[in-house]
Amino acid sequence: MTRRSVVMGCGGYLPDNIVTNDTLAQRIATSDEWIVQRTGIKSRHVAAEGQTTSDLALNAAKAALAHAGIAADELDLIIVATTTPDNTFPATAARVQAKLGLTHGFAFDVQAVCSGFIYALAVADNFIRLGQATTALVIGAETFSRLLDWNDRTTCVLFGDGAGAVVLRGVASEGKPDERGILSTHLHSDGRHYDKLYADGGPGSTGTTGHIRMEGKEVFRHAVQCLSDVVDEVLLANHLAPEAIDWLVPHQANQRIIDGTAKKLHLPPERVVMTVDRHANTSAASIPLALATAVADGRIKQGQMILLDAMGGGFTWGAALVRW
Ligand code: ACO
Repeated sequence: MTRRSVVMGCGGYLPDNIVTNDTLAQRIATSDEWIVQRTGIKSRHVAAEGQTTSDLALNAAKAALAHAGIAADELDLIIVATTTPDNTFPATAARVQAKLGLTHGFAFDVQAVCSGFIYALAVADNFIRLGQATTALVIGAETFSRLLDWNDRTTCVLFGDGAGAVVLRGVASEGKPDERGILSTHLHSDGRHYDKLYADGGPGSTGTTGHIRMEGKEVFRHAVQCLSDVVDEVLLANHLAPEAIDWLVPHQANQRIIDGTAKKLHLPPERVVMTVDRHANTSAASIPLALATAVADGRIKQGQMILLDAMGGGFTWGAALVRW
């Protein structure tokens, strides 16, 4: 008998403050038309002054635990995927652990930028399958607004703040494909592309926080290719045809990138969860936020096959297949 990680519940949190494209257009040389046409983004949420990544993460965590019907003290592992931690150290996950009132188990952060949630999910799944953890909270949380150069129109229009979380529990498995749980995870990186998407500072080694710098066209080109490749890898590893996928829940960077992956899977837009229009790119938070949205509105149902994929700085990319 082996173990499988079942998603017991999920939840999300978005800061109250909504910034529309028109608001940005009052401050920099851009327009709602340009942003919507190139990215699909119409608005984004921005954290209030003093509101930190752990504040967002905590709210998402509480929502996920409530949805799962699991008490915080049942957790033995907390992973926060973030590129915008409260402090350089300790891990934001340790602060979330304390805010949840826990003194047992272990908590740490994972940094893989926009692929962070997939990385964290894979790490938690491996801990659970090996028996080193049983009930895990996996959070993607970001305050990317703090990393933006608000005078750089090529990047500041793309991102937003938010957090999402899932609760995983290890259950006995006979390895049958119709059992609920994470079926496979697939991670990749290629550090040769480090300089194509990065923050030009901190934490630690440069002494400054830095701002996002990006070669947009190159990122776009690689994203379409890497995501297409990793989707093929998932289908091959699980002996599945594209029709087996009920929902694609992709990292929400850009509607055109998402459309490219959906086309590859021959998935109609009705089976792709899209939140980029309202959330923009919330980096590691975008997939769990999209999951929480589609579960809350009844689209994603227990037993369905869910494909998650993401690509981000590094470059990093990956995917996970989940029987919900
Ligand atoms: N408003 C108006 N004009 C703009 C803006 C803006 N916000 N930003 C750039 N422009 C201008 C440029 O200055 C340029 O003007 P020029 O021709 O006079 O020089 C023109 O628009 C075209 O710029 P491009 O960079 O060629 O535009 P492109 O079609 O490549 O779109 C974009 C840019 C949207 C960033 C696209 O490349 C993209 O989506 N790349 C992926 C980036 C991404 O998603 N990054 C997120 C992190 S990685 C991830 O999550 C996958």
